[in-house]
Amino acid sequence: MSDETLSNLLKEERRFEPPAQIAAAANLTAEAYDRAAADPQAFWAEQAERLDWDRRWDRVLDWDDAPFAKWFVGGRLNAAYNCVDRHVAAGRGDKVALHWVGEPLDDTRDITYAELQDEVCRAANALTDLGVRTGDRVAIYLPMIPEAVVAMLACARIGAPHTVVFGGFSADALASRLEDCQAKVVVTSDGGYRRGSASALKPAVDDARAKTAAGGHPVEKVLVVRRTGQEVAWDDAVDVWWHDAVGGASTEHTPESFDAEHPLYVMYTSGTTGKPKGILHTTGGYLVGSSYTHWAVFDLKPDTDVYWCSADIGWVTGHSYVVYGPLANGATQVMYEGTPDSPERGRWWQIIQDYKVSIFYTAPTAIRSFMKQGREIPDGFDMSSLRILGSVGEPINPEAYIWYRHVIGGDRTPVIDTWWQTETGAIMISPLPGVTAGKPGSAMTAIPGVSSEVVNDEGEPVPNGSGGYLVLTSPWPAMLRTIWGDDQRYKDTYWSRFAKQGYYFAGDGAKKDEDGDIWVLGRVDDVMNVSGHRLSTTEIESALVSHPKVAEAAVVGAKDEDTGQAVCAFVILREDAGDGGDDIVAELRQHVRKEIGPIATPRQIMIVPELPKTRSGKIMRRLLRDVAERREVGDVTTLADSSVMDLISAKQDEGRTEE
Ligand code: WT7
Repeated sequence: MSDETLSNLLKEERRFEPPAQIAAAANLTAEAYDRAAADPQAFWAEQAERLDWDRRWDRVLDWDDAPFAKWFVGGRLNAAYNCVDRHVAAGRGDKVALHWVGEPLDDTRDITYAELQDEVCRAANALTDLGVRTGDRVAIYLPMIPEAVVAMLACARIGAPHTVVFGGFSADALASRLEDCQAKVVVTSDGGYRRGSASALKPAVDDARAKTAAGGHPVEKVLVVRRTGQEVAWDDAVDVWWHDAVGGASTEHTPESFDAEHPLYVMYTSGTTGKPKGILHTTGGYLVGSSYTHWAVFDLKPDTDVYWCSADIGWVTGHSYVVYGPLANGATQVMYEGTPDSPERGRWWQIIQDYKVSIFYTAPTAIRSFMKQGREIPDGFDMSSLRILGSVGEPINPEAYIWYRHVIGGDRTPVIDTWWQTETGAIMISPLPGVTAGKPGSAMTAIPGVSSEVVNDEGEPVPNGSGGYLVLTSPWPAMLRTIWGDDQRYKDTYWSRFAKQGYYFAGDGAKKDEDGDIWVLGRVDDVMNVSGHRLSTTEIESALVSHPKVAEAAVVGAKDEDTGQAVCAFVILREDAGDGGDDIVAELRQHVRKEIGPIATPRQIMIVPELPKTRSGKIMRRLLRDVAERREVGDVTTLADSSVMDLISAKQDEGRTEE
């Protein structure tokens, strides 16, 4: 972050007090901060009471083997039972769990908790019939359809950790995840609807399956939901239709209870090295963390609120705030399959109006794209049902915050900027809607039960008014337990930077303002944040270098008005590739799409003769970022050859492609 950004933040003086009505009836009030700080474990035990346990825990936290935590030691529970059955048992079976909205107009389904219970039981029986046993991994590669939620809960019900792979990822990205967690079964669909047309998913699974077979860990069965009705290649030995296997299964299924530390899911996320990290979350602590935060931060009133989180289930936000948090809390929520602008630009606002959504949770990248389209579109809808707005994924710029509050929330709604990560499992730093006087652009303070700090290189807290590294200073129930299959990488990545203090290093830079409130500034490592999703520079570089014409590649994240950051690549071609041909840029973009997925497609690819390197051979990304952002190139004195930057700067306008 530049000094200019820092001083802009300092000038922000607007404050928004919590609305009196929300404050008066808030789920969590100011007293919780002190109470939680005085005895965090007692506070978390109290939060754990919101779940149904088959066996209570003996100990809240076992941190003896730090950084390997055990929460609610000895406790036993079933996550699916907590998200579904217990609401039915409590007489709320007729309550709508999901108002599902398909992208094609009028393609909707309302699913009650009782119906969800039947579906989850059927799917649990079907997965068992397909040979899935407790501990086996199941991959889920589906669009935003109810079956995605059902499949996740069915896995949880039988103790088979799921790994949901975002439907926008390519066959190669899917294959590497299938291989890493050695998935036995994949749940997918023929396709899904996006931007008004049916797009296929099953072919990517077929491709990925062929790759995993070569790797020695074949996927045994593929369970296929029919969503679009498009043609699919079929292998009778492997492929099974969902409507046959699940449709034909019994709705009776007795949930078994699992240890609180039983693996619930693995979610892959980008790190600084090429290979995505399989973040492991376990059952008890994760469910406590996701349900507590969903109740406290969104002030959920399950009897009256209609909640909508626009995140895809392929990301952690979809896990914690579409599936586990809201369902554990018995919420009624909207789930939408498609894009915000299909068939028209007002689609999201139409949905808010139709279902009287009262709590809405989305990402700054979406808010900025709506700002660009103009307020006339949302102004055409009645969104007076909204009472709380949430934001997640990247820093929300003050202008976007104000627009969100004013245009979408009619100035009634607090905007809750929630900071967290795939690794944290649940919201860590956020205002509370009934307590906090919000500042546009600030995530404010750690929520009750969580403790954060901003520290310098030595791990000492920085004074108010300065910046440093964001850390979490004590363990929390929804924390990741490890990186799947790689305990050492888990220690190195998160716990070695401030090992002396025992702090969790989040990889983000942050600033404390004069009041001590936190402003998250973004990643301090080589990880980009594109549209609220982490992408690793190394992963994209590896994809580029796997193209036969490429010798070397360096990728940086450049500031982008719409997506926060955009991927910019600098590529050196192999000698035998000459100038690469007229279509080289398009070819390379297509290649990255294929290797990783559309989200990783570079906005700009510059074919350069050299890359700026230090004498020890390290690429100086800082200088490349200057070029990508069309700034004057900074200090080049540590370069092995200071003239290379002139050659690279000359290319700064080349290879830009607007999608
Ligand atoms: C990274 C985590 C959390 C679910 C979505 C992304 C950035 C996230 C905020 C926020 C500023 C934020 C951070 C973080 N981030 N929320 N409110 N303000 N930055 O999950 O892919 O694990 O990415 O997203 O850089 O480390 P993720």
